[in-house]
Amino acid sequence: MKKIVIAIDGHASCGKSTFAKRIAQQMGYLYVDSGAMYRAITLALLRRNAIVDGQIDTNILTQVLDNCTVSFRLNADTHLPETLLNGEVVEHEIRTPQVAAHVSQVAALPEVRQLMVRQQQLLGEQKGIVMDGRDIGTAVFPNAELKIFMTAEPRIRAQRRLLEMQAKGETMSLEQVLASVVERDRIDENREHSPLRRANDAVLLDNSNLTVEQQMEWVMRIIAERTAPKHNCC
Ligand code: CDP
Repeated sequence: MKKIVIAIDGHASCGKSTFAKRIAQQMGYLYVDSGAMYRAITLALLRRNAIVDGQIDTNILTQVLDNCTVSFRLNADTHLPETLLNGEVVEHEIRTPQVAAHVSQVAALPEVRQLMVRQQQLLGEQKGIVMDGRDIGTAVFPNAELKIFMTAEPRIRAQRRLLEMQAKGETMSLEQVLASVVERDRIDENREHSPLRRANDAVLLDNSNLTVEQQMEWVMRIIAERTAPKHNCC
């Protein structure tokens, strides 16, 4: 079976990473959470107090981009991928509401995108990769063999995110989570550089009323078609 690149883009909190991880597991592919890379850079900036009143200090930004390495490794106990910032595991820190509140602003900066996209393209050189994000099918891997654009109704997405946060002991109201999700979409769709868009050749997946199992059945059928060797016609 030939190895392919699977690009998954879509709105905030619609389950892209859960879906992408399951596909990667089933296919034996590498999974890369491109959002985690933007979150890690945001965390590095917040730690250095580089974001004040919505303004990002450009000198600190340059230093952070010159000195920060984001990488991934598989946790030996959980078998789940973890994000590392300069070798430190930051998987939990990058998922806080504070990082979520600033990440879309940081991800809109062209110098941040340039660096991240270059690193993401290197990771996909050997194919056999599932990457999720906002610009994977449009900018990172425009020639991906399979592109999926995911969405779900905003309130359903907010409910799912709220459950995740409650499981971690964080308290926020549904309305607050909904506002954050909608605001992130607004910034992602309207930014100048690589805005969130459905690529012309992306398959649309609205999972508002689908279980993960139903999504998996749907996608595995498509993957089987895209990885099948092409027959020479008679
Ligand atoms: O919360 P969710 O899992 O939907 O978001 P994420 O994948 O962790 O990404 C966090 C933020 O990073 C997004 O809201 C985007 O602003 C930005 N991002 C991006 O600009 N490009 C990507 N390829 C991935 C994420």
